[in-house]
This record gives sequence, structure tokens and C-alpha cells, in this order.
Amino acid sequence: MTPQDKLNQLADGLAESGFAVIDDFLLPAEVNAILQLDEFQTGLLHFKKAGIGHRQEKQVNEGIRGDYIQWIDRTQAAPALQVYLEKLQQVIGFVNQTLYLSLKDYELHLTQYPTGTFYKRHLDQFKKDDHRKLSAICYLNTNWKPEEGGQLKLYLPHQQLEIFPIAGRLVCFRSDLIEHEVLPASRPRLSLTGWLLDQVADLRHL
Ligand code: OGA
Ligand code: MN
Repeated sequence: MTPQDKLNQLADGLAESGFAVIDDFLLPAEVNAILQLDEFQTGLLHFKKAGIGHRQEKQVNEGIRGDYIQWIDRTQAAPALQVYLEKLQQVIGFVNQTLYLSLKDYELHLTQYPTGTFYKRHLDQFKKDDHRKLSAICYLNTNWKPEEGGQLKLYLPHQQLEIFPIAGRLVCFRSDLIEHEVLPASRPRLSLTGWLLDQVADLRHL
């Protein structure tokens, strides 16, 4: 599949079912370059525990989510990450054209789920802030085996779908519509987690 085929597949999936799974969105060499970053080479040193709730209401609750995150400041992003940022920008341009969305920007963090952690069923839009239109997660786990778990489970109208977090795979879905959860895994689970916004990101996380 060419890069253009992948964008078409993404737009078709979003239009028809509100989600899309694109394999090799990042190529193996691109994934490896990201895994070489200090952030991923030093365990959890650069990461902080993710919270739930919005802004001032944010709190840590390990019974709901157990991941660790580091927000990306795109003005400082390493070249390995710029590759991904450019691809997200292409996604925004293409889905704006084809699906008549008015996406303007994105926000993005590096994510690590330590062994055994999870994120219970939830929706990505905040009640008081609906600027997150599409969720976009790209996985960085080489040689992931089904028995290691860690599926992203999507709660669709007529079925539940479990998607393994394999390296290079992008999952993109409607943030306002699709409830989902992250199942526990028997090894650390790494990803780039982002949202495409209908306003310019306010960098509130940085
Ligand atoms: C999230 C989330 C899914 C995944 O961070 O909100 O649902 O597969 N992540 O990592
Ligand atoms: Mn989510």
C-alpha cells in the first residue's frame, strides 16, 4: 500500500464506521528510531502518571487508568518524532478535504503502560471540552504476541472489536462516539497517543 492508499483507507473507515486501523502507518525503521529516543530508553524517568478528568479536576486513579505519559512539545521534537508529526499533519489535511472536517491541530503524548496496567472503558471527549474530534494512537511494540494481551477494545454499536498494539499500526476513531478500553498486557506497552482538534492546541499540558 502506498501512503496515499493508507490515507484513503483511513478516510473510508472513518466515514463508514467511525474508526480505521492502518497497519505500517509507521514503517519498522521509523518505529525503531522512535524507540531509540532517550524517553523510551530510560524506563519511566521522563514520564508521569496520567490522570483522569480535565485541567483543574485532574486526578490520578489507578483503578481507572495505569499509564504513564509525556506530552510532546512539537517545537522541540526530535527528528524521529517529526516523521510522525508530519504524517499526522497529512492526515489532518486529507480528512479535512474528504470528510469536510475542520481539524486545525493536534496534541500528542508518548505513552507507556507498565506490565499489568490498563485503562477502563471510556470516551476521549471531555464533558466540558469537545475539541477532541479524532483519537489517533500509533503502537510501538515490536514482536507483540497475541498471548501478551494489551488489546485496544472498541465498543461499536453491533460488536466489540479487539485490536492488538503491534508496531507501526495506527488506530483512529471518533473521540465523541466510540467508547474503548485498554486491556492489561504481560509486558510494557508503548505508543504515541494523540487527538486531532478543531482548534489550535493551547499547549496547556507543556
Ligand atoms: C487513551 C486510550 C488507547 C490505547 O489514551 O485515551 O484510550 O490503545 N488509549 O492505548
Ligand atoms: Mn482513550
